[in-house]
Amino acid sequence: MSNPYGHFEDPNREYVITRPDTPLPWLNFLGQDEYFALNTNTGGGYSFYKDARLRRLTRYRYNEMPYDNNGRYLFIKDGDTVWNPGWKPVKTELDSYECRHGLGYSRITSSKNGLEASVLIFVPPEENLEIWQTTLTNNSDAPKTFKLFSFVEFCLYDAQNDSTNFQRTYSIGEVEIEKNAIFHKTEYRERRDHYTMFASTRDIDGYDTSRDDFVGVHNGIHEPKAVLAGQPNNTQAFGWNPIGSHYHEITLQPGESTKHSYILAYVTVSGEKYIAPHVINKEPANAILDKYSDESAVDEAFAKLNGLWDDQLSTFQVETPCPIMNRMGNAWNQAQCMATFNLSRSASLFESGIGRGMGYRDSNQDLLGFVHMVPDKARQRILDISATQMSSGLCFHQYQPLTKKGNDEIGGGFMDDHLWLILSTTAYIRETGDVGILDEKVGYADVEEKTATLLDHLELSIRYTLENRGPHNLPLIGHADWNDCLNLNCFSTEPNESFQTASHNTAEEVAESLMIAGLFLKACLDLQGLYKFIGADAKAEETAAAHAEMLEAVETQGWDGDWYLRAFDTYKEPIGSHKNEEGKIYIESQGWLVMGGAGADNGRAEKTLDAVHEHLYTEDGCVLQQPPYQTYHLHLGEVSSYPPGYKENAGIFCHNNPWIHLALMQLGNGDRAYEYYLSVCPAAKEDKIETYRGEPYMYSQMIAGKDAATPGEAKNAGLTGTAAWTFLTISQGFAGIKPDYEGLQIDPCVPTAWPELKVTRKFRGKTFNITVQNPEGKSKGIKSLTVNGQAVEGDTIPLSSAAEENEVVAVIG
Ligand code: BGC
Ligand code: NOJ
Repeated sequence: MSNPYGHFEDPNREYVITRPDTPLPWLNFLGQDEYFALNTNTGGGYSFYKDARLRRLTRYRYNEMPYDNNGRYLFIKDGDTVWNPGWKPVKTELDSYECRHGLGYSRITSSKNGLEASVLIFVPPEENLEIWQTTLTNNSDAPKTFKLFSFVEFCLYDAQNDSTNFQRTYSIGEVEIEKNAIFHKTEYRERRDHYTMFASTRDIDGYDTSRDDFVGVHNGIHEPKAVLAGQPNNTQAFGWNPIGSHYHEITLQPGESTKHSYILAYVTVSGEKYIAPHVINKEPANAILDKYSDESAVDEAFAKLNGLWDDQLSTFQVETPCPIMNRMGNAWNQAQCMATFNLSRSASLFESGIGRGMGYRDSNQDLLGFVHMVPDKARQRILDISATQMSSGLCFHQYQPLTKKGNDEIGGGFMDDHLWLILSTTAYIRETGDVGILDEKVGYADVEEKTATLLDHLELSIRYTLENRGPHNLPLIGHADWNDCLNLNCFSTEPNESFQTASHNTAEEVAESLMIAGLFLKACLDLQGLYKFIGADAKAEETAAAHAEMLEAVETQGWDGDWYLRAFDTYKEPIGSHKNEEGKIYIESQGWLVMGGAGADNGRAEKTLDAVHEHLYTEDGCVLQQPPYQTYHLHLGEVSSYPPGYKENAGIFCHNNPWIHLALMQLGNGDRAYEYYLSVCPAAKEDKIETYRGEPYMYSQMIAGKDAATPGEAKNAGLTGTAAWTFLTISQGFAGIKPDYEGLQIDPCVPTAWPELKVTRKFRGKTFNITVQNPEGKSKGIKSLTVNGQAVEGDTIPLSSAAEENEVVAVIG
């Protein structure tokens, strides 16, 4: 497949971008502990500690001209030519350019007039800093003297305030400069527990910290005054807009190379009292500088990062006949799962870091995609999320990562949130066997005494849905379910009211959701398994009865003839029915109900997935519903506020596609699941990249649907639940490796044309080298299973009889 902008390099898990003017800025997520950096292929992006809203370290300008404005910039002035290794912001035409996005790092290498600059940007594991290791090489045959300026623009930590409250922010900025380090210490006056250091490991020949002097009041960052003049001003910023810029004058002989690093660090100081005069405690900063005073320490940190990724990825590696699935499943898909784990939906090129914290629903789902890589972090995440559930059963829809306090800033009353906790917790326990987590006392967000255990939360979640059902005995939808835009209780008599301002018809908030019904069914199945595992048989039976009761309501009230309904609105009318003129069929209920066990004995599961194929499937993926709403309907809410084909109004919402893939595989349809898998896969879009525009190595939230003006165009790349669910499609669907309470289930579903696939899976400290053979060209059903040469009954390898290293052969037939 050809893509004029770049290509995958699988052995080193890199995407190599060979032209800077990509159809959109192509992003990489760096950091996976507490320090995070967004970095594009031209060096754009920003950094923050834990929380993109409250501890933003550098500034970024969203929705600017050009896109992707501000970042980690190096300016080189070589004679009269000024250029940046990342091409932007000066955009001088380069003699060569390459950006390698790898896992947790980016390396940008460019050359101009015989000088090559290579900048490796990464966040070392477990450190609150980023490093830009810079290598400069004179490839010309004459000595070269040039001027090098670094640049970051500091954000005054609270990004919301920083971008709105200038009457204050223009007076609070403070910096200190000492040797090769620039310290951004705004907020230190109040909190005295943090500051930012921007330092060079090479002795500097000058600096600037005042933006007005370095860039100029009337200049853009593509024409910084100091760079054009070829000399810094050695300024100290007082208020206005503090920046960090180091200046170096460098001479290189022909063939000579030199290396140094810039370190941008978030430094915390503990237990300090107010000291006047107001000078920061530089001890911790100096320790960082000491550590990295030698470039070999930087190399070591980089090796550690690569080792970490080797290790994380080694839990699951797959070799199928599909190179695209292998490259995504073995590297990129898992890396994206890690990004969603770290950032939920808070900070990307499409999420400003201000509006949204960690989502309750989102983070629970994201966990499904990373629990195998970082089980300990997953454990903590479950406890953090569950603590934002309230004693009623409803949950705060999101929380701020810095404070871990729940908030409903993007609205509350989502009646699906609580159920996702059951999916994440059971996935965690199946992966680790750690039932001890169930007894952790997390408490409820609105109750002072923290006595409720995690298990109490799970029980409450089931109860909440059971007790909050509507006229058809189906779960109430509240503000919305997974589909944030299906606001079926909106009601107003005012003309021109929008879904955002419409009052809810509180007396009659009876809209119901078949998607929540499906999610509830699945949650019951998962919880039932857990109860059995912990010997709570009565509870397991109760949960089975709840499943049966909901299933009954679904089958009697929710079937439309050829597919399942999506919902009932506040007027008790069906949504997602052939009776509707628009929005006749929706995707979410079909996937969830099949996964929850609906339609299993009456042929409806097959029938409903056939309806998905007929009405929703396109070569770019399944659209969310059909036909799209052509006009706005207040009583449907945000969904109809989008133009046809975009977002929830019949866009290809990638997140819900894998639900269909998994449902198809549950029914054994490997061929169709594979066709569908490729349809949404970014790595399969390289030959239509001009239309697609997004990164080929990570999922976008949405691809414009067939009814859109720009079908096939991707938007909102990076932070989407698609990552976790698609990873499940690969690992638990096609490869069929399903961690279970007592062992590892092998239940693959493959395209009939695949003769074989291999998987290495680490599970509870043991390694399983699994070969799945498909001699009869089928899709599903294990005919025989051998572990270390011994035949095993059924399709589950009991953990008790597994060795440290296991050779497993599973034959489909
Ligand atoms: C978007 C949804 C998103 C929601 C968050 C809506 O505008 O369409 O995809 O989840 O905002 O509140
Ligand atoms: C994106 C949100 O992050 C997610 O929670 C939601 O389910 C989808 N949009 C669908 O509306």
